Amino acid sequence: MTTEFTTHLTEAVVDSLKDTADPRLRELLAALTRHLHAFVRETEPTMEEWEQAIGFLTATGQTCTDTRQEFVLLSDVLGVSMLVETINSSEHGTESTVLGPFHMTESPVRELGADIDLVGGDEPCVVSGRVLSRDGTPLPGAVLDVWQANDQGFYDVQQPEVQPAGNGRGLFTADTEGRFWFRTCVPSPYPIPTDGPVGDLLRATGRHPYRPAHIHFIASAAGHTPVTTHIFVAGSDHLDSDAVFAVKESLVQDFTETDDPSLAREFGVPNPFRHARFDLVLNPVQS
Ligand SMILES: [Fe+2]
Repeated sequence: MTTEFTTHLTEAVVDSLKDTADPRLRELLAALTRHLHAFVRETEPTMEEWEQAIGFLTATGQTCTDTRQEFVLLSDVLGVSMLVETINSSEHGTESTVLGPFHMTESPVRELGADIDLVGGDEPCVVSGRVLSRDGTPLPGAVLDVWQANDQGFYDVQQPEVQPAGNGRGLFTADTEGRFWFRTCVPSPYPIPTDGPVGDLLRATGRHPYRPAHIHFIASAAGHTPVTTHIFVAGSDHLDSDAVFAVKESLVQDFTETDDPSLAREFGVPNPFRHARFDLVLNPVQS
């Protein structure tokens, strides 16, 4: 029920923020208040529903640990992460996508060509490419932070008893021509964790929890804006229904079956192998 009191209440709360020293914080809190109050006026939650909402957010916070970020997951499944990411990304260069909840630990520094699959999946796979500036100039010394699930669909932090710490992760520095390459296993689609409040939300809404197979990257280079992105495995299940809405067509890459003994020797992998080639294009920082 909208009354004169509820309308004045919104303005009273917004007015109470007027002495906020940081103008951006004032703007954000005022808009949050207006949108939140409008949502409540529109949906008129019962007291029980309000308590349920508070309980859900409380449980979301209580599920977070050093190696689990349920709030990021909630932001992801509601599409908020992709909204924020896309609003902040450039129209040019490699498209960005969500950071996701598993960038929890520092990736170990590895040499170019190193294998990030410390367990040894069945199918050898090489990912290679270049880091380039928007005009095509290679970016020597660019840094690539890489992380992925294993071929069973789990990150190292989800299976500390099974996977060594740092499995599926690497911090690489591109060579003098901006090139990078590393060995890994072909990742699998995986379900996001469903044993917490976000899982309850997915079940209540009849949604599946799967993400298509992908490898995460953060690419950075001097004088350029970093990009947080994935490459998705072409042909993977769930490319058209990612639980976190993160698929962009330009990021879907072939992991080609490759039968080329001399290239296999060059990469130090058995022949045949799967090969994904992917250039990352960064935008110069505007001066
Ligand atoms: Fe992921």
